Amino acid sequence: MTALAVLTAGGDAPGMNAAIRSVTKVAASHGVPTWGVEKGFDGLIDGTFRPLSRRNKAGNPAPLHEVESQGGQGGTIPGSSRSKRFFERESRVAAARQLAEYSITGLVVIGGNGSMVGAHALTAETDVPIVGIPASIDNDIGLTREALGVDTALNTIVEACDNISDTARSHHRAFIVEVMGRDSGYLAMAAAVATAADAVLMPERPHTKEEVIDSVVKCIETSFGAARDKTRVLIIKAEGVPVPTHEIIEEATRRTSVDGDIEIRATVLGHIVRGGDASFRDRLLGGRFGRVAVEAVLEGDSDVMTGWNVGVELGKATSDDWIRLFDLEDVIAETEALHDGSSSVAIDRIERMEAIQGVLAL
Ligand code: F6P
Repeated sequence: MTALAVLTAGGDAPGMNAAIRSVTKVAASHGVPTWGVEKGFDGLIDGTFRPLSRRNKAGNPAPLHEVESQGGQGGTIPGSSRSKRFFERESRVAAARQLAEYSITGLVVIGGNGSMVGAHALTAETDVPIVGIPASIDNDIGLTREALGVDTALNTIVEACDNISDTARSHHRAFIVEVMGRDSGYLAMAAAVATAADAVLMPERPHTKEEVIDSVVKCIETSFGAARDKTRVLIIKAEGVPVPTHEIIEEATRRTSVDGDIEIRATVLGHIVRGGDASFRDRLLGGRFGRVAVEAVLEGDSDVMTGWNVGVELGKATSDDWIRLFDLEDVIAETEALHDGSSSVAIDRIERMEAIQGVLAL
């Protein structure tokens, strides 16, 4: 093996740098230097590569200081992009040419579902083994129970909701907190459980605008009503619910009827949720995914993704009991099923959420 390359594509996620650090260090331990591809698939097309390791005095590859010291930070050291060009075959052919030019004999792609689609398409243009590592705060990548970034993002949301709850209780207010999740309500669902929210709005349960507003009004009236007499109401809404948060606030304020004045406020957490130092779990997951990905490319495995998945017989076992290798084609199909709600994992999540929500509402 001459050299390995690693790229991050799509939305950044805490834990990406931990995975890059692991890839670089594990590759170095096999005597293989690593190139970082700048700005995701765009950098692959343009050949903007920079070394992540150098030869030390003994002549062996060693990770650069930057990779070692920034492994815990959020974001991504080589940068990322949502490459439109990579959808065109000529661009993927150009990318394959760059891999050959740099004598790269293994590529690790770290990213979300779009990145896995890109990695899969690239395998048609090159014989270089390509292995994906799932990273997306949205947790909507098939065949991995958790993707990099999810744990950190949830910790950020929980802290923000706890802070909001302090002030909400002091003023007897209702808050709608919007969190990222274009196609997936996972962050909203999981954070709702952790913060004992009063309701969660998620795209997996499609509702009309009227239904969304009705459920918000009902939730606020019941929670502040005599039977419950709560001091704050917290509703977590996933970004992907197609009713703008300000419209929900306006309509719900107009329609809600409780004793005394009631104020409904909104906080959109936006990109705050995606940044920040990676949690312990994301660093650990990044380290373990990185190791397995390097071992896989060295063994010539290609068109696969590392998945955190225990107790399943699918995919291929690896040196790590908790991580298996799944064909990208299967990952992509399962991701689509997660988005349209037909996946058993999505159905499970919603059922669990509804059961817990029922208990929380008591
Ligand atoms: O990383 C996925 C995601 O967090 C989505 O939930 C969100 O809609 C999107 O990224 C925002 O991405 P961008 O920063 O490119 O607007």
